[in-house]
Amino acid sequence: MINTKFSYPEVFSFIDEKNVKAQNEKLKSAYKTLCSRNGKGNDFLGWLDLPAEFDTNFSQRIKNCADKLAAQSEVVVVIGIGGSYLGARAVIEALQHPFNSLVGGSGRPSVLFAGNSISEDYMHALLDVLEKKDYSIIVISKSGTTTEPAIAFRILKEHCEKKYGKDSAKERIVAITDAARGALKKLATDEGYDTFVIPDSVGGRYSVLTPVGLLPIAVAGFDIDKLVRGAVEMREYLLQNDSFESNIAMQYALLRYLLYSEKNKKIELLVAYEPCLSYFVEWYKQLFGESEGKENKAIFPAGAIFSTDLHSLGQYIQEGERHLMETVISVKNSKNKVAIPYDEKDADGLNYLQKKSLTEINLTAEKGTRLAHLDGGVPNFQISIPAINESSLGELIYFFEFSCALGGYLLDVNPFNQPGVEAYKKNMFKLLGKPEK
Ligand code: PA5
Repeated sequence: MINTKFSYPEVFSFIDEKNVKAQNEKLKSAYKTLCSRNGKGNDFLGWLDLPAEFDTNFSQRIKNCADKLAAQSEVVVVIGIGGSYLGARAVIEALQHPFNSLVGGSGRPSVLFAGNSISEDYMHALLDVLEKKDYSIIVISKSGTTTEPAIAFRILKEHCEKKYGKDSAKERIVAITDAARGALKKLATDEGYDTFVIPDSVGGRYSVLTPVGLLPIAVAGFDIDKLVRGAVEMREYLLQNDSFESNIAMQYALLRYLLYSEKNKKIELLVAYEPCLSYFVEWYKQLFGESEGKENKAIFPAGAIFSTDLHSLGQYIQEGERHLMETVISVKNSKNKVAIPYDEKDADGLNYLQKKSLTEINLTAEKGTRLAHLDGGVPNFQISIPAINESSLGELIYFFEFSCALGGYLLDVNPFNQPGVEAYKKNMFKLLGKPEK
C-alpha cells in the first residue's frame, strides 16, 4: 500500500474537466505503451522492474561493500555527474543531519561528491580535505567516458595511490559502470577494483535504485531495503491501476500535460518546504529535463525551496508572467519537535504562535501560499508524504520516474535518450583539441 497522496485542488478552474475525458485515450495509450514496453526507447525500461528484482543477496553485497568502505574511511568521495550522482545525493541529503559535518557521531563517513563540475577551486578544496582524512572513492559512469568524472577520477586516483600506495588504494576504490564497455570498465578490470554493473537497460537518470544510488546511500548509513520497498509498493500500485481515476501518476502526467499544451503553462516549479529536499528537486529537474525536453517541446522543470524562495522568486510567481505551474511536495510530519517559547513581554508579537509547532506553521504557510498562487493564476498540484524517510523517498522516486516516462510518451518523444547533451561536448572537445579516434 502506498502512503503518497496526489491532489490537484482547483486545477479545473484552469483547464476544462472535459479535456481530461477528451485526452483519456491518449493517456491510456501512453500507459499501455509504457507497460507493454513497446514505445520509443523501450530498450531502456529496466528501471520499471528494478525494485521487484532487488533481492537479499544483491542487497547484502551492496551493504558489505558499503560497510567495508565505511570502516576504512572518514570520507567517501562519490565521483559522477547527472544521473550518476543526483539520485544518491537527493536521498542522502534528504535523510542525513543537515549539519552532518559538524555533529559527527553518526558512525558513518561523510559522503562528498566530485566530478559534477570542472571547478578547479572545488577540486583543490576537496584535495585539501582528503589530505587530512582517511577516504575511499566510488567512481560512477555508465558510459565510462564522461569527461567531468573522468578528470576527477584521474586526479583523485593519483592522490589516493600516493597517499596509500597502489595496492591499498585498490581496496579503497569501487567502480560502478557498464558490464563491458567504456574506459572506466577497462580501467577497473586492469586495476582489479571491486565493481558493480549498471544494467544496459537502465539510463543514468533512472538509475538511483541500482548500485549507482544504493551504494552511496548505504555508505551514508541509510536503509536501502526500506528505500527499495517503498519503490516496490509504488510500482505495484501503479502497475495495477490503469485509469486516470485510480492512478496518481496518470493524473499528474495528464494534468501537467494539459496545462502545458492547452494553457501555455511552460514551466513547472517543484517546490518543497523542507530544505533537505533541495537535491531531490535537483534530481527531478534532471529526470524531467533530460527525458522530456526534446524536439522543441516540453515543460521546463524548475524548482524552489519555500518559504526561503518566497522571499526571492515569490514576487515573480505571484505576479510575473503567467506561464507557471507548481507542484508541491508536502511533508505532513517532522522527525523532531522544537517549541516556540512563551515570552511575557511579547515584544515580537509572536505569542499567538506559541502553542503551534513549527511544522503546523510551515504547513499553514504552504496552504496560504497555495491559495495565493491559485489566486495569482498558478495552478497547483500537491504530492503529500507522511514524513521524510527511506520508504517515502522510495515511493516518490518511482512515482516521478513513472510519471516522467508517461509525460514523455504524451509529448511523443523518447523519454530515455538525451541526444541534446552531445552538443556542448562536441564544441568543448573541438576547442580543447581532443584528438579524433
Ligand atoms: O541520465 C543520463 O543518462 C545522464 O544524465 C548521465 O547520467 C550523465 O550524462 C552521466 O553519464 P555517465 O554515467 O555515462 O558518465
